[in-house]
Amino acid sequence: MKRHYLALIFLTAVLQWECTRRNEEDLKSVCFESEILPVLQANCGTAGCHDASTAADGYIFTNYQSTLRAVKPGKGRDSKLVKVMLEDGEDRMPPPPAAPMSQDFIDLVIKWIDKGAGNVAGCASNAACDTSAVSFARDVQPILNNYCVSCHTAGSPSGGVVLNTYNGVKTVANNGKLLGSIFHQPGFYPMPPSGIKLDECKLKTIRAWVNSGAPNN
Ligand code: HEC
Repeated sequence: MKRHYLALIFLTAVLQWECTRRNEEDLKSVCFESEILPVLQANCGTAGCHDASTAADGYIFTNYQSTLRAVKPGKGRDSKLVKVMLEDGEDRMPPPPAAPMSQDFIDLVIKWIDKGAGNVAGCASNAACDTSAVSFARDVQPILNNYCVSCHTAGSPSGGVVLNTYNGVKTVANNGKLLGSIFHQPGFYPMPPSGIKLDECKLKTIRAWVNSGAPNN
């Protein structure tokens, strides 16, 4: 009898350990700090919208704590943050004439929330930034899709700049505005307008592509 009891305690301990370990892995599977927050800041946490001073509808998307207000941990599709990105018409965020967020990003947000909506410190990938063979389709366009395209599609291109087609991107690559704006060089509008630069690897990737002649590869 006593031995059964000990075995049970042991088993419970093992299960508990396994469960904690899985939880930690789930929380780490999407990195809020590097994969979600910068995209929210660029597209939603801007002046006049959801930065700290405007806080439209009471929502602020410039940090983890305030983002949680629109999140039901474990329930991605029930969360306001996801619902508004999937709305039709005027209620959709970012609001028309801005273009919708990419399905890839929406799926990533759903996954992050489903897995517990954690904010694991230091989860940003330290993988080396390889810019030796940058491709427009594989590397550059996905960055623009997440950080820029909501304001820069052919239908309503802010500043006349179109970033969801190769030709549009090629135009600003050639006239210097693409690098000027993302590196916040004097004389250019700093992009994205949130004022928070793209991370170092994304900047290097776009620069490598422009410097190699902005090919349609
Ligand atoms: C929230 C909307 C928004 C987002 C997101 C955004 N832009 Fe812009 N962009 C604008 C607006 C508005 C202008 C016009 C300039 C102005 O009036 O401030 C502009 C202008 C530009 C210009 C012209 C700059 C110049 O000096 O003439 C470029 C190039 C540009 N954006 C690139 C980008 C890139 C690249 C990204 C993503 C990294 C981006 N934008 C993200 C709204 C946005």
